[in-house]
Amino acid sequence: MEITRTTSSKIQRLSVSDETLEDQELQERAPSIRPSRFLDYPGQDEVKRNLEVYVGAARKRGKPLDHVILHGAPGLGKTTLANIIANELGVPFLATSGPAIDKPGDLAGILTGLEPGTLLFIDEIHRLSIKVEEVLYSAMEDFVIDIIIGQGASARSVRMDVAPFTLAGATTRLSLLSRPLLGRFGIQERLDFYDPLALKKILFRTSSILGFQLSDPAALEIARRSRGTPRLANRLLRRVADFADMAELDTIDDQVADLALTRQGIDATGLDRVDRRILQVMQEQYDGGPVGIETLAVTINEDRDTVEDVYEPYLVYRGFIARTPRGRVLTNTAIKYLTSTEKK
Ligand SMILES: Nc1ncnc2c1ncn2[C@@H]1O[C@H](COP(=O)(O)OP(=O)(O)O)[C@@H](O)[C@H]1O
Ligand SMILES: [Mg+2]
Repeated sequence: MEITRTTSSKIQRLSVSDETLEDQELQERAPSIRPSRFLDYPGQDEVKRNLEVYVGAARKRGKPLDHVILHGAPGLGKTTLANIIANELGVPFLATSGPAIDKPGDLAGILTGLEPGTLLFIDEIHRLSIKVEEVLYSAMEDFVIDIIIGQGASARSVRMDVAPFTLAGATTRLSLLSRPLLGRFGIQERLDFYDPLALKKILFRTSSILGFQLSDPAALEIARRSRGTPRLANRLLRRVADFADMAELDTIDDQVADLALTRQGIDATGLDRVDRRILQVMQEQYDGGPVGIETLAVTINEDRDTVEDVYEPYLVYRGFIARTPRGRVLTNTAIKYLTSTEKK
């Protein structure tokens, strides 16, 4: 059973690399920072409402949940939500990722070893190779796979059963998913940036788990300046707590929050250094746009994927940048913002 061994070591390797270092630190200190129930997962109300219905119905019927794809920017809670779905269904959770599955045989090994009902989570599912993806099609549709055994003239195709399972895929880039794969997900949900109120709830939950006292205005300050992203909110909370500790404060207040966030390069509007550079470069070198994402990434010397997955979506969400067919353009909001920062 060599296939099984290699795949299971891949899975282990993956569940470690799945998180950023910061997240891992958080997890180690307090295993319950990542919520395991819908109830402890603030925000994404529409997505949650829908998923609760689908999960409830699947439980009632005693059938596996339809396959789910979750998409949205990094750090918005896709992995967490997949975990919660498995918990609420009461089924085993198994995590891997697109880049970790090299060969069709790797995936075949994972699929044929699944316990019935398992929620198989494939992170960065848009990075599966087409050969691997093709194995998924029949598995998702009919719970069977066709694998080639042997080589050359003696090669033959063998059909194998897969236990009924639910595939949960996560991606930051829905547009990179192939049509045939996307079409096989009965449930498609998009996670959006969080409003400050939802982030405040997350911050209060994290601070009570970590034993920090957090004032309401401080929570709001961190929430407003966390790019609508829980992962960042939790990370900034820890940096703010460091400043509060060094100032010998019992409670994290908004003053120390403001100080710590400003020292992290995050201004009162909630934009960081890269956000500001993007806006400045667009104004100064491209006269407000339109400018292509590739050109922009090169000019500010950032990775194109990072600009496209992380920076641009947030700047668009906040109304600083608009997408046009000819490229990205600065909005009036951005121009007002740039003028006010110049004055300072
Ligand atoms: N709605 C939420 N409520 C509480 N914590 C959240 C929520 N969404 C995300 N988090 C936290 O933020 C971090 C990043 O979430 P994760 O699920 O890994 O994001 P993604 O998979 O979308 O990149 C995790 O530590 C998780 O606990
Ligand atoms: Mg994730």
